[in-house]
Amino acid sequence: MKRTLSGIQPSGKLHIGNYFGMMHPMLRQMAVTELYVFIVDLHALTSVHDRERLRQGTLEAAADFLALGLDPERCTFWVQSDVPEVCELSWLLSTVTPMGLLERCHAYKDKVAKNIPASHGLFAYPVLMAADILLYQAEVVPVGKDQKQHVEVARDIAQRFNSTFGETFVLPEPEISESTAIVPGLDGQKMSKSYDNTIPIFLEEKALRKKVMAIQTDATPVEDPKDPDKCNLYALLKLFAPEDKMCEVRELYVHGGAAYGYLKQDLFALINDHFAAARARKKELLDNPDYLRQILAQGAEKAREKAVRTLDLARDRMGLKY
Ligand code: ADP
Ligand code: TRP
Repeated sequence: MKRTLSGIQPSGKLHIGNYFGMMHPMLRQMAVTELYVFIVDLHALTSVHDRERLRQGTLEAAADFLALGLDPERCTFWVQSDVPEVCELSWLLSTVTPMGLLERCHAYKDKVAKNIPASHGLFAYPVLMAADILLYQAEVVPVGKDQKQHVEVARDIAQRFNSTFGETFVLPEPEISESTAIVPGLDGQKMSKSYDNTIPIFLEEKALRKKVMAIQTDATPVEDPKDPDKCNLYALLKLFAPEDKMCEVRELYVHGGAAYGYLKQDLFALINDHFAAARARKKELLDNPDYLRQILAQGAEKAREKAVRTLDLARDRMGLKY
C-alpha cells in the first residue's frame, strides 16, 4: 500500500468545489492507501493572526473531515503543530535548501511582484511543507495544481539531503488529479472563496436554498434549446443527480423545455439531501470539542511515533548525535 499524505489549511467554510476537488477523492484513498491527513495550522499562521479564528478554524476543519466520513481508525489524522518535530526537521532541511529554490516559488514571488511585504514564514513555507512530507516518508502527495511546485521542492530538498548525508528520505511524488473537473461557482467562474461565488456544503436549509437560487443563468426562454455544456447550473446538477435524471435534463436542454427555476429547486433538494446527515453530524461534533480534541490527540500520538523515528535518523545522519 502506498503511503499517501495531504495537509489542509484550516481556512474557512468548505464549499462544493473543495468537496469534489479534494475531500471526496481523499476519503476514497482511505480504503486503498496508508493515509496521513493533517490540519496545517503552522502554515495558516503565515496568513492568519487571529487567535480565535485559528482555534475555531482548526476545530471546524476537524469536524468537517469526521462529519464527511474520515475514519480516524483507518488513517492518521492530526493537527500539524501537535507534532513539534516538524519544526526541527524544517530547520535541518533549510540548511540544505538553496535560496534560489525558494525565491522561485509562486506564493512568495507573487507577493513580491505585487509589492506586498512577505514574512520570513511565507518565504520558508515550502521548507516547512517539505518537512511535513519527508517526516512521514510519504510516497504520494495528492494536491491541486497550485501546490505541485511545493511538492517538487520537497522532492528536490530530499534529494539534496540524501546526496549530502546518505539515503534518509523517500522521494515524494505529487499526484495531480486532472480528472476532477473544476467545479463552477454561482457566476460560472471556478468556485472559490476568493471570488465569493461559493455554495458552502454545511449551510442550513434556508440559506442553502437562497444560494442555489442565486446561480446565474442566461435569459434564454424556457422553450428554446440551450447548450447544457455551457451552463453552470447543468454542471452543478451533474455532480449530484443520478444518471437517468441527467439524461432527462439533457433532453430538455437540447430540445427546449428546461426551466432554470425548477432545475434550481431540484438542485437545492439534491444538495440538501446529500449533506443533511453530515451537517447534523458536524453540529454534534462541534458541540463536543473535547471529543474532537481527543481524536486529534490520539492522531498526533500515532503520527509522532513515525515522526520521531525519521527525525532521529536525520539527526544521526547530520552528526547531531554524539
Ligand atoms: P479556494 O479556491 O476556495 O480558496 P482552496 O484553494 O483552499 O479553495 O482549495 C482547497 C482544495 O479544494 C484544493 O485541493 C483545491 O484543489 C480544491 N478546490 C478548490 N476549489 C475547487 C473547485 N472549484 N473545483 C475543484 N476543486 C477545488
Ligand atoms: N500548502 C498546502 C495548501 O495550501 C497545505 C499543505 C501544507 C500541504 N503541508 C502539506 C499539502 C503537505 C500536502 C502535503 O493547500
